[in-house]
Amino acid sequence: MKSVRDFQLRGKRVLLRADFNVPMDDRKEITDDIRIRTVLPTIGHIVGEKGKLVICSHMGRPGGKPDAKFSLAPVARHLESLLGQKVTLAPDCVGAEVEGIVEKMAEGEIVLLENLRFHKEETANDPSFSDQLARLADVYINDAFAASHRAHASVVGVAERLAEKGAGFLLQTEMDYFHKSMDEPIRPLVVVVGGAKVSSKLGALENMLAKVDRMIIGGAMANTFLKSMGVDVGASKVEDDLLDIAKRFIDAADAKGVKLHLPVDFVVADRFAADAVTKTVTFRDIPAGWMALDIGPASTLLFREALQDAKTIIWNGPMGAFEIDAFARGTMAMCQAIASSHALSIVGGGDSNAAVKKSGEERNISYMSTGGGAFLELMEGKSLPGVAVLER
Ligand code: 3PG
Repeated sequence: MKSVRDFQLRGKRVLLRADFNVPMDDRKEITDDIRIRTVLPTIGHIVGEKGKLVICSHMGRPGGKPDAKFSLAPVARHLESLLGQKVTLAPDCVGAEVEGIVEKMAEGEIVLLENLRFHKEETANDPSFSDQLARLADVYINDAFAASHRAHASVVGVAERLAEKGAGFLLQTEMDYFHKSMDEPIRPLVVVVGGAKVSSKLGALENMLAKVDRMIIGGAMANTFLKSMGVDVGASKVEDDLLDIAKRFIDAADAKGVKLHLPVDFVVADRFAADAVTKTVTFRDIPAGWMALDIGPASTLLFREALQDAKTIIWNGPMGAFEIDAFARGTMAMCQAIASSHALSIVGGGDSNAAVKKSGEERNISYMSTGGGAFLELMEGKSLPGVAVLER
């Protein structure tokens, strides 16, 4: 895979695929700009080398038609203020008018194309839409790690059409960290998986089982594993259709000699609400009608111990319903345990990243990935179409 550094960019039109799919509040203020800030080194390099920088991105899921709610206008403004340089927002991402704007660009100028997903052809990886995008560029750079699991026109189709193509600094860094932690980890390698559903993480769990020394499972998904071993989890969230699979997974971990850590106690509540009645109980004592919403103090201690001598830690998914303070303690404790460890620590996924931010431990994590779905697909052992096309 070539790097943005490997190209002569002066005077060339450089199409940069970024993932500026950032969260915004009701007033269209960006509430977390990490996906913009992490692309700044690549932008700075292209502008510094006097390329004509054309940036494209998707925003949300507008369903293939223009919708002002999903405009990239707030991103253009934010980027402009971060760079202290004019960023022109094009009215669309393809077509004669856009081609005219790009035609007139000066060296070092920046144009941001409007949301790619205003065209249904983007997600369909439509050949003629890819042709139209390719007409805007001499060089294609992908720095959209978080969208690289999508075989869309701006990620794959356009890259297939341009001879000069490579990775931006963010995409390279993400892949390097993942390679270091998954393919050549310094051991012990401990993976921490949490979140609501076993079903959405099963592929990742199965692939990681072959690589890790220890696995910690928390969050609502732990309930399914416990129930598969005959534990009565009360009214806790469970995926009953996955009980057999969960049991087989536990047996497989045992056969492989991978130590699987499940919670031994919980913070339970009589309902899912901030003002619910709560108590801490062992996994054997979840009262009928109550639900487990966080791991308890004994589990925290056990998990902390399992992390203590780790040299590499990968974390995806919270330990409980941390968005409610009453159920945040377990997840916050994991943030602190991972942050204070001496391991190379990689955190990925929107919820885990939000948890780390909430804990204030961001600076003590070795690497916070910008990917959600893309991070999970790497954990599943899949190759990302947006990376594969650059390697071809
Ligand atoms: C993400 O937020 O994970 C990426 O921007 C991809 O978005 P998508 O799931 O809508 O393709």
